[in-house]
Amino acid sequence: MTHKKVILAGDGAVGSSFAFSAIQQHLVDELVIVDTKPGKSNGDSLDLEDVTAFNGNVDVHGGSYSEASDADIAVITAGVPRKPGESRLDLVNKNMTILKAIVEPIVQSGFHGIFLVSANPVDVLTTATAKLSGFPKNRIIGTGTSLDSARLQVALAHTLGVSVLEVNAYVLGEHGDSEFAAYDEATVKDQPLRKYAVDHGITNADLDQIEADVRTKGGQIISQKGATFYGVATSLATLTKAIFNNENLVLSVGTALDGEYGISGVYCGSPAIINRNGATTLTMPLSDSELEKMQNSAAMLKQIVEQAAI
Ligand code: 2OP
Repeated sequence: MTHKKVILAGDGAVGSSFAFSAIQQHLVDELVIVDTKPGKSNGDSLDLEDVTAFNGNVDVHGGSYSEASDADIAVITAGVPRKPGESRLDLVNKNMTILKAIVEPIVQSGFHGIFLVSANPVDVLTTATAKLSGFPKNRIIGTGTSLDSARLQVALAHTLGVSVLEVNAYVLGEHGDSEFAAYDEATVKDQPLRKYAVDHGITNADLDQIEADVRTKGGQIISQKGATFYGVATSLATLTKAIFNNENLVLSVGTALDGEYGISGVYCGSPAIINRNGATTLTMPLSDSELEKMQNSAAMLKQIVEQAAI
């Protein structure tokens, strides 16, 4: 990839935070921002252009989906955000209509890159992006449980008094109420988390509380400041970097399940390898009880996908 080009659909809080992160880290050579309010995307482009004087040239401009034809990555953040008290799944129909209006013109432009999706309900919309585009499964990636996994790592690091970089733990399944922390496989300082926790006076009840807090953290942030955006925008920027740099990064994302965990036909949170080809799903060897949670979460998502008018 010589000229690294991204088209961004949606210049709200998540989209503009992603754009800032991508330009500040100089992950792209060209960033096209598309929004239903052109004043916002044009204004943000002018504002972000000033960042390039500090970090090196990036061609950032407001534009349209026809410019996706030679883009490497299409980032979809557009959608109605959750209101306080609303679940991510309440947004299905509203955001499905918005998604169609984005994916169809991008595909019609001749785009042959990778879709990154963060709009909620992210697993349903990632699955819908795969159906609407007809693209190979590896070229659709959702932010899935990457944010929840980050939240879990932060919470465990705080509780155990270790660096977040010493915690290896994933949240799997739906980015939402049926997600679960895969504690049985997690490690801290390369030791099994459950043993490390007991040795440091942390009980299973404490771990359950951390899992519950992670599940509701997005809602807590929304109730205090109206939206969450830095975490998910960083997930999108990390995925963009891993694709452009062909990193083979392993991250828990919204990835295609096609037989993995005995599940198929839905995208949801599982570790995957991210490189210039997109995502390759890994099957994490789960304990029996966690495998059941994974299957229940995916089955619930599949039902919503089947009911939604895609
Ligand atoms: C979050 O969990 C709103 O899904 C978003 O932060």
